[in-house]
Amino acid sequence: MGKISPSILSADFSRLGEEIKAIEEAGADYIHIDVMDGHFVPNITIGPLIVKAAKKVTKLPLDVHLMISDPDRYLDDFIEAGSDILTVHAETCPHLNRTITYIKEKGVKAGVSLNPSTSLSSLDYILEFVDMVLIMSVNPGFGGQKFIENTIQKIELLRILIDKNNFDIELNVDGGINTDNIEKIAKAGANVFVSGSGIFNTEDYKKTITLMKDLINKANQMMA
Ligand code: DX5
Ligand code: ZN
Repeated sequence: MGKISPSILSADFSRLGEEIKAIEEAGADYIHIDVMDGHFVPNITIGPLIVKAAKKVTKLPLDVHLMISDPDRYLDDFIEAGSDILTVHAETCPHLNRTITYIKEKGVKAGVSLNPSTSLSSLDYILEFVDMVLIMSVNPGFGGQKFIENTIQKIELLRILIDKNNFDIELNVDGGINTDNIEKIAKAGANVFVSGSGIFNTEDYKKTITLMKDLINKANQMMA
């Protein structure tokens, strides 16, 4: 079953609580929260305060994506704020095993994210320990960018690796996903789909999320 994780980066922040409730009612599975520091990525967005506020208005798991340098400094803050899944970038963690182990010891699911140009081989000695891999299909930093096509091949290869080893890992893809391309991303093997502008820039969130799920199911049936 495919899961939809709408990125609140494209929500109307003056009505954030309502927007989160609206995507929950529209059938979202997770809430994706993009944390940017203006250092690892060229944009500054959300901190633990907003994660804490989001936690108050939804029962959905918070899928927190840390695009920050030296994330170890802030793990406790994001865990205490109510993150259910905490994802760090491999590019920011010299001691990735330690970082992932720490998150899991705190009872939070741990994810690792890879930039578009980062090789899957950087997962070689960490894959068995993570709960989620977040494949970036745009260069992180902004919503509304175009999906980078060679991500499809990366997803296909990662799906083979996960299945071959029987790992219980969610394969999440983030960036440029909409109703036009979600089917082929599902076919490649993703099972969680982050979408910001692809959902929040549409009139009817429920209609969009329902269509996205139908397209994922269609892809899954074709593969069965
Ligand atoms: C990009 C963020 C994404 C982004 C997705 O740096 O990590 O989560 O908000 O937005 P869209 O779906 O508009 O590409
Ligand atoms: Zn993200």
